[in-house]
Amino acid sequence: MQIKHNIQLQLYNSFRTKAVAKLFCEPHNVSELIDVLGKFPDEKRLILGKGCNLFFTKDFDGLIIKPTMKGVFTLFETDDFVEIEAGAAEDWDDFVAYCVSNDYAGIENLSFIPSSVGAAPIQNIGAYGAEVKDVIAFVRAVDITTGVLMDFSNAACEFGYRDSIFKKRQNYIITSVVFRLQKSFVYQEKYIDLNRELENITNPTLSQVRDAVIRVRTRKLPDYIALPNAGSFFKNPILTEEEKRKLLQKLPDAPIYNAENGMFKTSAAYLIDKAGYKGKRKGNVGTYEHHALIIVNYGTENGIEIQNFMCEIQEKILCEFGIELETEVWVY
Ligand code: EPU
Repeated sequence: MQIKHNIQLQLYNSFRTKAVAKLFCEPHNVSELIDVLGKFPDEKRLILGKGCNLFFTKDFDGLIIKPTMKGVFTLFETDDFVEIEAGAAEDWDDFVAYCVSNDYAGIENLSFIPSSVGAAPIQNIGAYGAEVKDVIAFVRAVDITTGVLMDFSNAACEFGYRDSIFKKRQNYIITSVVFRLQKSFVYQEKYIDLNRELENITNPTLSQVRDAVIRVRTRKLPDYIALPNAGSFFKNPILTEEEKRKLLQKLPDAPIYNAENGMFKTSAAYLIDKAGYKGKRKGNVGTYEHHALIIVNYGTENGIEIQNFMCEIQEKILCEFGIELETEVWVY
């Protein structure tokens, strides 16, 4: 496997910011991966998937590892379900399309999310009432410290809202993911936007649901090829009972959902919108006109401009509503 030097990362992040990586490699299998970890034990490392959830503000003085393990295999099958292993470098939406075309149910609501298969468990991708954690049987990953390949059961992944052990510890490189998908399917009404899109169809099929998700997403979310972005920029804030009460005093119509452990979730897009930041543009950066939670890049190659705009939004929301917005996107 070739180790490349001084590689431009602009096409490796969906915000299209410029940065140079000192070292860059693309391991094709687990042994190449373990090998490269052993060769550069002291280098700072970054594991790159499709680069759709991060951007660079400066050059990267270390080793970028972009796993390229591919392949989709059926491991186990019964009359009711199938277990499928997919390589970390498989394109997420191609994998969803493959499952839908085989009538395997469970990830159709996660259609059209820009991601690789390996990145999906890291932040437990979710949309339209579904989260990838609900269909993951186990995750295969190499422990960076020991160089050992391990299987993480669903419980061992410690999934939460946009969270997992892989995000918390950052000491593992996912090589493949094993999904358990169902062979029968009945559409469940979980999310208002999607229900509306399907209201004229009784008992929609998997591909009708996938098509509806793609239509809703295309209307609301910008395509990063045409308008560089990284999807939802901030996480939806989790509030205590007291924080919820204070927010409702200021904004009585704020959306409130139940979250885990007796907490509540509100909408970051709603707060940004209320603060007057929907469709707002500052130089080459702004929020998307159709969705306040998406920061879009109108032409800068400098990630600092995006970071400055991000900080401005965080300060504004803290000042106006007393709520700290956490980024969902990684800033390097
Ligand atoms: N809203 C506004 N203004 C806006 C947009 C939305 O006020 O400009 C309010 C509305 O009240 C709306 C609510 O925000 O009902 C929620 O908006 P939406 O349904 O678009 O969902 P979201 O919470 O903003 C989350 C995920 C998305 C996922 C959608 C659909 C997070 C951080 N984001 O967005 O995920 O596609 O739900 O399920 O959880 C991503 O992670 O990159 C991503 C796009």
